Amino acid sequence: MATVLGIESSCDETAAALVTDGRVILAQRIASQDEAHRPYGGVVPEIAARAHAERLTPLIEATLADAGMTLADVDAIAATAGPGLIGGVMVGLVTAKALAMASDKPLIAINHLEGHALSPRLADESLGFPYLLLLVSGGHCQLLLVEGVGRYRRLGTTIDDALGEAFDKTAKLLGLGYPGGPAVERLAREGNAKRVPLPRPLVGSAEPHFSFAGLKSAVMRAKVSGHHDDADIAAAFQQAAIDCLIDRSRRALHGAGPVSALVVAGGVAANQAIRSALEALAAEHGLPFVAPPLGLCTDNAAMIAWAGIERLGQSDPLDTPARPRWPLDPTAEAVRGAGVKA
Ligand code: KG4
Ligand code: ZN
Repeated sequence: MATVLGIESSCDETAAALVTDGRVILAQRIASQDEAHRPYGGVVPEIAARAHAERLTPLIEATLADAGMTLADVDAIAATAGPGLIGGVMVGLVTAKALAMASDKPLIAINHLEGHALSPRLADESLGFPYLLLLVSGGHCQLLLVEGVGRYRRLGTTIDDALGEAFDKTAKLLGLGYPGGPAVERLAREGNAKRVPLPRPLVGSAEPHFSFAGLKSAVMRAKVSGHHDDADIAAAFQQAAIDCLIDRSRRALHGAGPVSALVVAGGVAANQAIRSALEALAAEHGLPFVAPPLGLCTDNAAMIAWAGIERLGQSDPLDTPARPRWPLDPTAEAVRGAGVKA
């Protein structure tokens, strides 16, 4: 049996986990920084980096203790090396390097997006390659053909905002606080989506790309008009987002060739309404629908440890750089309008 220690610190969760090649999470701890960032309505990179620096090492110590293990018992140390907020990534990666050096264990540098992309395989051993993955998080919104470990073909991406970002901004606008996704989902249950007309950007277009900036502005106009109930706005926003995801995913399914399943991952995959809509889309195509349990959707270290298991045998040098940007498919062309998000 092989065990990998995973470390995650690329955004606002400080996390460590021990995962085996038998798909068992022996222990995992996550320290959320929600309280520290709440007054600002979003993640403040400097505050995040400092919090990771304070919390990470004791958290790793506690995770090992939870499993009754020491570093001598692990086979490799996997850490997120990007993409993400660079201060936090550096804290996690440098810590992993020091532990790897001290314990003489291999370091495995993990792409955070690969962590999300492979996380469904930790939860579901029957999930084989290739699968169509909708990766929706606070920083990304992509449709990827996952052909194998390290083999990703990007079929579509957002030309402006990520969907999680749009959820968070909608939450802020409606005074729901931070983090916004779960709060918008809760409020949406009490609203009627039909009462607020909102656009569905890029629906029907040939390439399976996304755009959420116009939707976000429309939500803002609906709010400042004073004509609409907040719950109706939340419901209409969520429904518009779902319509975009479904249309774009359907388009990708038609162009992807044979796939074993339709899979969703990333923080926004925690949204129950989105999961149900994707499940129906998969059924329409006679495909299994795979979504990790909620705790594996939002940022966590078990998915990083699992990516380390998938990459066992790899050993990255101690001068491996921390990367603020690190596309899963480096061959994918930049799309028009994609100034910021990769
Ligand atoms: O993957 P993640 O934890 O961090 C990134 O790598 O970005 O994703 C965080 C994002 C946030 O924007 C959060 O609002 C969103 O996921 N999110 C949700 C839900 N839970 C988290 N969005 C919609 N509905 C949810 N239930
Ligand atoms: Zn993430």
